[in-house]
Amino acid sequence: MPEEKPMTVSHPPSNDFLYRRIADRIAALITQGTLLPGDAVPSVRRLSSQEDVSVATVLQAYSLLESRGLIRARPQSGYYVRAGIKPAPPEPANPAPSSRPALVGVSGVVDKVLRAVGNPDVVQLGAACPAPDLLPHARLDRIARALCLRKDGAAHAYDPPPGHLPLRRMIALRALDWGGEIAPDGIVTTCGCMEALNLSLRAVAGPGDTVAIESPTYFSILQLLESLGIKALEIPTHPREGMDLDALEKALSVRRVAACLVQPNFHNPLGCVMPDDGKQRLVEMLGRRDIPLIEDDLYGDLHFGPMRPRTAKSFDRRGLVLYCSSFSKTISPGSRVGWVAAGRYLGRVRSLKQMSTIATPTLPQMMIAEFLREGGHDRHLRAMRRELARQVQLMTLAIRRHFPEGTKVTRPEGGFVLWVELDSEVDAVELFDRALASGVTMAPGPMFSAKQKYRNFIRLSCGNLWSDRIDAAMARLGRLVAGPARRRGNSPGRP
Ligand SMILES: Cc1ncc(COP(=O)(O)O)c(C=O)c1O
Repeated sequence: MPEEKPMTVSHPPSNDFLYRRIADRIAALITQGTLLPGDAVPSVRRLSSQEDVSVATVLQAYSLLESRGLIRARPQSGYYVRAGIKPAPPEPANPAPSSRPALVGVSGVVDKVLRAVGNPDVVQLGAACPAPDLLPHARLDRIARALCLRKDGAAHAYDPPPGHLPLRRMIALRALDWGGEIAPDGIVTTCGCMEALNLSLRAVAGPGDTVAIESPTYFSILQLLESLGIKALEIPTHPREGMDLDALEKALSVRRVAACLVQPNFHNPLGCVMPDDGKQRLVEMLGRRDIPLIEDDLYGDLHFGPMRPRTAKSFDRRGLVLYCSSFSKTISPGSRVGWVAAGRYLGRVRSLKQMSTIATPTLPQMMIAEFLREGGHDRHLRAMRRELARQVQLMTLAIRRHFPEGTKVTRPEGGFVLWVELDSEVDAVELFDRALASGVTMAPGPMFSAKQKYRNFIRLSCGNLWSDRIDAAMARLGRLVAGPARRRGNSPGRP
């Protein structure tokens, strides 16, 4: 089969990127506690000469920071960190190392948590969904109405795998953003990223096989392994740089692994990004052993910095990477439109797709294809990323305000979840019950591990727009975390 070439794409820095990059850098100095409340931030002139940008660009950056509530201008004097801003809590440590592959058993706790999703009386900090206000609903509704008025009935016909061609063309075009070169013919459309992962796993592994995954990882990946009878080999994952590749290499040298499933960009729940040289090393390490890599890049477009990170797929020369994603976090979760660029496994994925659901629903595929064709998607993504960066910052500051001293929290550079390490005595599953009773949810740490580790961790979603209701919910959660009932030994029903 022909080798797939890796490709580099260079993005010219626009003024838009420049002022946000400067704002992000100053914001980081504030949230990490380098600049304290009342401190003067660097003067406009100084920053403009330091960064070699115009005064107008720095003023734009400072006005963004003012709108985020981080700094304020004092007439004739300059800009200062606002009172009441506390530095972000420290980051969690590298999690415990992996041991042996294990059959997964997370469904009990996941069911319990997912049952609470959708209850409008509860503040949903558990489910990682973008707020409806962040999604382009009005445009999608208009496009769907127009499609339904078409006389040819195309929206109601089967669209068998590989799926809607105009959509696959748009997906292939957008791959240029992440350094990829995929042809529309190399893509199969799916019902969300979840079906893309499901088909990919089934194409390369079967019951009793072992698949290497990050620890922690997204709970539905664990449930998928559970449902397929596949064992999980949990590899420790760094909260900034992703899967520990030395640990993976060591594991591969002692046991047979059928595949590796990773989220290199804005990992759920850690928010980490594997650096480019890590992605390349991962692809080459697996390539030497002919082990397929399933890459989940669902959050790749939601970067807070100026550049979209590259993907592992962009380093794939041998067709061993099955690249999975969807529009669930950026356009419409309910449309359930995803895809897989399956490399050398394309034929197998395509027939598994046909055998399992025959086709991806046609109308949502047409709607998303038309949305992308019309243009404006990049503008929508820019606005969404800006808003999510703000939500992540506000939630981090709320943890600082409301949670006990010693709480640790990740510093994601994209996506919209925070991974929070609580006092080692806290039992996050019990905390969930108490939180639900007080009208707020979160996702307890054990959902994110095959062996239900991370008992004292929680994942918080920052997808909601900030409001007094969320601030009050965070305050309640903080009180529960700090309260005497949190102690494991003190909980009712425990010996
Ligand atoms: C990392 C990750 N992969 C896959 C999915 C599922 O995506 P979809 O809703 O497109 O099936 C999610 C959903 O939250 C996720 O966080």
